[in-house]
Amino acid sequence: MPRIHIIGVGGYLPERVMTNKDLEAIVDTDDQWIFERTGIRQRHIISEGEHTSDLAAAAARQALDDAGLTIADIDALIVATTTPDMIFPSTASIVQSKLGASGFPAWDIQAVCSGFVYGLAHADAMMRGGMFRRVLLIGAESMSRIMDWTDRSTCVLFGDGAGAVVLEARDAGDEPQGGIIGSVLKADGSYRPLLMARHPHPGASPDMPDMAVDAAGVAAVEMQGNEVFRNAVNKLGEVVGDVLAHCHMQPSDVDLLIPHQANIRIINATAKKLKLGTENIAITVEKHANTSAASVPLALNTYYREGKIRKGQVLLLEAFGAGFVWGANLLRWSKD
Ligand code: COA
Repeated sequence: MPRIHIIGVGGYLPERVMTNKDLEAIVDTDDQWIFERTGIRQRHIISEGEHTSDLAAAAARQALDDAGLTIADIDALIVATTTPDMIFPSTASIVQSKLGASGFPAWDIQAVCSGFVYGLAHADAMMRGGMFRRVLLIGAESMSRIMDWTDRSTCVLFGDGAGAVVLEARDAGDEPQGGIIGSVLKADGSYRPLLMARHPHPGASPDMPDMAVDAAGVAAVEMQGNEVFRNAVNKLGEVVGDVLAHCHMQPSDVDLLIPHQANIRIINATAKKLKLGTENIAITVEKHANTSAASVPLALNTYYREGKIRKGQVLLLEAFGAGFVWGANLLRWSKD
């Protein structure tokens, strides 16, 4: 059976930066509160006329470049997003077209903030089964479009962006230790009232009548922050242990934790459980905020481009999101 390797990495952040100071003019908040509670100082915001598919396509181009490939070398395209351009068609099919391609399969994954971790497990299984040789996997979000900009407890937390990887199936004999080692995915939909953005279509959620909408009538994120926080810490703590056990590895085998970038305190709780020092944790939440499905690949891209990921290192990726859905992937970096 082949092993699946990351052979190209890319990212894209919209030009416009919104700092905590900028937010002080919008809601009753301050830089100190936001930074102390979340570790966030700024976030990038998509511009008018730009769409999730544009962010995704930009990240994909950089990942293809990094792999030394073009879109013609790709056999399938997956976009993990919770902020698609439209209800349908899928953002993946729009991205495929924007990249100038057609023919090969393209589809979206909706696992909210865990979308990239789910996507990596998904692609790994399909590729090991022989269905595709090269897959372009993208996490892309325009979370600013589903914010209630009058709700200070949510609008300060999120940002926009995209991250992408090119995956390649290689004969296991060539690099028996490298590539994706294993994944664990979890979901429990009974937690859905704690974090959601309801469907804007009237009548779509009959069991949830008091739908929150922003001024433009668009469904907005609603969250019970304390409960989400508590569950994220517990469930991420469990799932990193589960993926290590699944792969017969120890916390001491992990060289770099690439966590979902929602809150520095959640990240530190997981790192503490694994007994990892600051130098072993990828942290981008300060500059990116929570970019949902884009957060893990954007952190991967940032650390990769800063030369902080070396061949042979073991990377532990984890994420937690609405549903709840959560999961983790272990991989050994095989790229120079
Ligand atoms: N600025 C200033 N004060 C704020 C604020 C803001 N942006 N947002 C909330 N507050 C206030 C609250 O109104 C509350 O005031 P009160 O005590 O007078 O009622 C106070 O701060 C404390 O609120 P609380 O919700 O208890 O704070 P917290 O320590 O739980 O931190 C979060 C809030 C949102 C940062 C935290 O709960 C969190 O990070 N949760 C997880 C969020 C997350 O990761 N979601 C995505 C998962 S994928």
